[in-house]
Amino acid sequence: MSKTPIITKSPIIARSGPALRRTLDPFRRARQTIALVPTMGALHAGHLELVRQARRRARRVVVSIFVNPLQFAATEDLGTYPRDLDGDLALADGCGVAHVFAPTVAEMYPEPLLTTVSVADITARFEGASRPEHFAGVATVVAKLFAIAGPCRAYFGEKDFQQLAMVRRMVADLSMPVEVVGCPIVRDHDGLALSSRNVYLSEAQRAAAPVLHRSLLAAAELAAGEADVHVVRGALADGVAAEREAVLDYADLVDAATLQPATSVVPGTQRLLVAARFGTTRLLDNLAV
Ligand code: PAF
Repeated sequence: MSKTPIITKSPIIARSGPALRRTLDPFRRARQTIALVPTMGALHAGHLELVRQARRRARRVVVSIFVNPLQFAATEDLGTYPRDLDGDLALADGCGVAHVFAPTVAEMYPEPLLTTVSVADITARFEGASRPEHFAGVATVVAKLFAIAGPCRAYFGEKDFQQLAMVRRMVADLSMPVEVVGCPIVRDHDGLALSSRNVYLSEAQRAAAPVLHRSLLAAAELAAGEADVHVVRGALADGVAAEREAVLDYADLVDAATLQPATSVVPGTQRLLVAARFGTTRLLDNLAV
């Protein structure tokens, strides 16, 4: 006879995969839907919105907090990436998260790590071009999180649109028992997409950063009436390049599922993607067309 799950108020913290599985087992046996919100911590309103979306369709929400070393290049900000487990736990508690999974690096990656996951093609351009090992690091940790959490709905923000497309493809290709749910970008009052890295921006860079969203809106408006994909791309790139604080990395119109660059404008199926550097901070944004 299965025991009735105990409903607790504050999150149950699991530090290892087996511990998380043990705490989820009774709820799974009681046929409660499990939702997983993978994060690297430094929770902000964007993450909390993922939790809110998850809570609408699942009784048990698990937030994973793990700064994944595999997705950072040696030159990137792994050492300084914002970490605040106590603050994150308080925020998770405040929005009804039932479980927090906060493993150590040694727990996630027993040495030597011989198995990794990579998704071809979708990851080749854009973020993949400037961060060659990034997506294999993300795919590996997300595959592990899915294996640990078991069948679930998993919530990802659309801000990292290429990551979302890659995760969807990985789940389909590897027949993972996970329903991937993409959630709209949460923006600040001036349109800047929320990101844990926004804290790195100087005052001048922060003031300039909404240029990404403004340029996306202008390009999307052009796309609504303009069939020439080069004009749309050019408008997006020029809009960002006109801002002195921004150094454009890429600006493109792509198929929303395959991320292949578009050859013509096909409204309803495409995404504008943009990335730019503000000082040493790279910011990404995107918009549906
Ligand atoms: O989007 C993120 O925060 C990370 O890439 C993820 C999905 C939690 C994997 O580490």
